[in-house]
Amino acid sequence: MNIVILSKGPGNYSSKRLKEVARARGHDVRIINYAKCYMTIEKSNPMIYYNGESLHDVDAVIPRIAQSLTKYGSSVVRQFEMRGVFTTASSIAIVRSRDKLRSYQLLAKYGVGVPKTVFARETSEFDEVIEMAGGAPVIIKVARGTHGNGVVLAETRKAAKAVMQAFFVESVNFLVQEYVEESAGTDIRAIVVGGRVVASIKRQSLTDDFRSNTHQGGIGSAVKLTPEEEKTAIRAAKAIGLPICGVDMMRSSKGPLVLEVNSSASIKTPELITKRDVATKIIEYIERNAKGKHKKDRVGA
Ligand SMILES: Nc1ncnc2c1ncn2[C@@H]1O[C@H](COP(=O)(O)OP(=O)(O)O)[C@@H](O)[C@H]1O
Ligand SMILES: [Mg+2]
Repeated sequence: MNIVILSKGPGNYSSKRLKEVARARGHDVRIINYAKCYMTIEKSNPMIYYNGESLHDVDAVIPRIAQSLTKYGSSVVRQFEMRGVFTTASSIAIVRSRDKLRSYQLLAKYGVGVPKTVFARETSEFDEVIEMAGGAPVIIKVARGTHGNGVVLAETRKAAKAVMQAFFVESVNFLVQEYVEESAGTDIRAIVVGGRVVASIKRQSLTDDFRSNTHQGGIGSAVKLTPEEEKTAIRAAKAIGLPICGVDMMRSSKGPLVLEVNSSASIKTPELITKRDVATKIIEYIERNAKGKHKKDRVGA
């Protein structure tokens, strides 16, 4: 097959591993910077170009779109979809997963546990919002943050109110969320491929920071999921419509609570720590699904 990895970082571990595995399995594979792709749109002829060359004979794409380029990146993926090219993450699911509110709405509807979340904009009912989220301390997140930037722990009602007011003034959409204190500083990332968890790690903040993102200095270790956690990760992937993704969860007294579903989760730490071959699972998924009829997105929101 002719496989294209859409990534801005050719030297990035995940892209390199996927390329190496695909090549070893006999595929033609390239890493293409989607930000440098350009597209023509005219009746019945959607084309994509890169460095003066038309990408017309691609069988499958693996999108690894950066948060900061969601709009352009997902448009490139959509253009491949318009050509009938198989993708491991549909453009609509990528966009969906980048919006925390939309994701929480869908997760909750599909019966996936999430931290209780309040969403508001021009309210002056700060106290009520804080109460609804379980009272201080609360977590306040911007709707489109990533890597832990844009997530605040407001320890007191006063601090929570001040943060909300600041966001209102700047017209930033945000969520107020119950603080999962039981496992603060720790979360679990499960890598799901085609309805199965293929690797799972626990990430632990090394400082007193409540955020466990590796970008914030968190470290990973292997973890065995409970059957309930495994079911939750699989269901979360389905709720967002991403057959290949990284599901972040926290262990709480109420069971697993999903924080987010990542469409281009890094496979580096999961592979290096668990010694599982995630890249091969992804390429095998493509081999099983790219030919024949492609599954439609049925999430509905
Ligand atoms: N409700 C919460 N309670 C406790 N800790 C949280 C909560 N939400 C997020 N965190 C911590 O903050 C980190 C970042 O939050 P997340 O929603 O995943 O945002 P981002 O998209 O920036 O990674 C999580 O990995 C977790 O460690
Ligand atoms: Mg996160």
